[in-house]
Amino acid sequence: MWYSAASFGYKNKRLHKALTDQLDKLPQLACQYLHKEKILLAAKLAKINEEKFGVKGRIHFNVGGSQSVDDALKLIRNETGKNLVFAFMGGYHGRTLGASAITSSYRYRRRYGHFGDRAHFVPFPYCFRCYYGKKRENCDLYCVKQFEKLFESEYYTFWDGKAKESEYVAFFVESIQGTGGYVIPPKGYYKALKKVLDARNILLVDDEIQMGFYRAGKFWGIENFGVTPDIIVFGKALTNGLNPLAGIWAKESLITPEKFPPGSTHSTFSSNTLGTAIGLECVTMMEEEDYESKVNAKGDYFLKRLCELQRKYPKHIGDVDGLGLALRIEICAGDGFTPSKELCDKIFEEGMRGKLSAGGKKYGLVLDVGGYYKNTFTVAPAFDITNKEIDLAVELFEQCMRNVGIKS
Ligand SMILES: Cc1ncc(COP(=O)(O)O)c(C=O)c1O
Repeated sequence: MWYSAASFGYKNKRLHKALTDQLDKLPQLACQYLHKEKILLAAKLAKINEEKFGVKGRIHFNVGGSQSVDDALKLIRNETGKNLVFAFMGGYHGRTLGASAITSSYRYRRRYGHFGDRAHFVPFPYCFRCYYGKKRENCDLYCVKQFEKLFESEYYTFWDGKAKESEYVAFFVESIQGTGGYVIPPKGYYKALKKVLDARNILLVDDEIQMGFYRAGKFWGIENFGVTPDIIVFGKALTNGLNPLAGIWAKESLITPEKFPPGSTHSTFSSNTLGTAIGLECVTMMEEEDYESKVNAKGDYFLKRLCELQRKYPKHIGDVDGLGLALRIEICAGDGFTPSKELCDKIFEEGMRGKLSAGGKKYGLVLDVGGYYKNTFTVAPAFDITNKEIDLAVELFEQCMRNVGIKS
């Protein structure tokens, strides 16, 4: 579903109607003016977060996710007067210059010169391939301890113990890594990390552009981990892919009209009438039905089926995992561990050939590949997928595997 941008499925009738109704009512308006849907959507999101986190905050809209990441960077600079931040290895925050500076992959920066404000990248708790070679069962969150060590002495370059001040003033995270391969951190990870950040006055910025709006079984993915971020960045599924609308939520203290007045960031198309109308309808739909139960029930079933598949092909499916309807299948070379991009590509191509069959019908299978080694299928189906459709997906996936020569 389009990197989780179309959670309500393609051609959703209700959302099409919200769009066409708005086209007839107020199709465009310069964004310095207020319109009803913009106010209602901002109020809804602020209220949802106040209920969830017990904190008052405000919303600011922009166009795409990357621009909103840039807005979050501006907020931080505005608040702290500093521009250096932490981010995760394997993290993806977009392709504007600002977002590229905090996105881990060098491939995205290589041709664009020196990034003086490049993030300091910290290993993500990708436990299947732990950066430190530890095992999840007994590591005792070694990675958080390594991060905390950076502040032990001024000679580790991040911390002035006399001024009690960090040179790096925020940490950009994805609650669950999206482009990085739907990697799910262990339960206690963010609480331990947040403790380290709080003690050093470092802000937590939670990029929910891919995991937000119930993809990971909760309104925000970070809710699975029991911490409250200072800033949340959202986009994608807010409009089910029908309009580029994204934005930020920030704690009141960071984004008061005095501190961050109108014009602090701006784009001609930000908070446009069509996008806000669809966004309002999407969030209303999320309020009308219990998506937490629905997404988690379907996700549990899907993961159960993937675990069965992994047990059948342990040499080539190294890892499967999932939270809500964000699921991963990691393809390996035949030892259950060595990443195989080659095999992953073959399976992908087999799906695209459209020569699969089930119940007497011909099918293709559209898969999405991601991950640190481009050997991971990131599975983000529409929320209305049925168990029967999940069974069909698993059956077709297995056919792809067998057709490229993988044996159980
Ligand atoms: C977590 C995350 N942050 C930021 C972005 C960038 O958003 P956009 O492509 O709308 O600029 C993406 C897009 O894939 C994303 O997944």
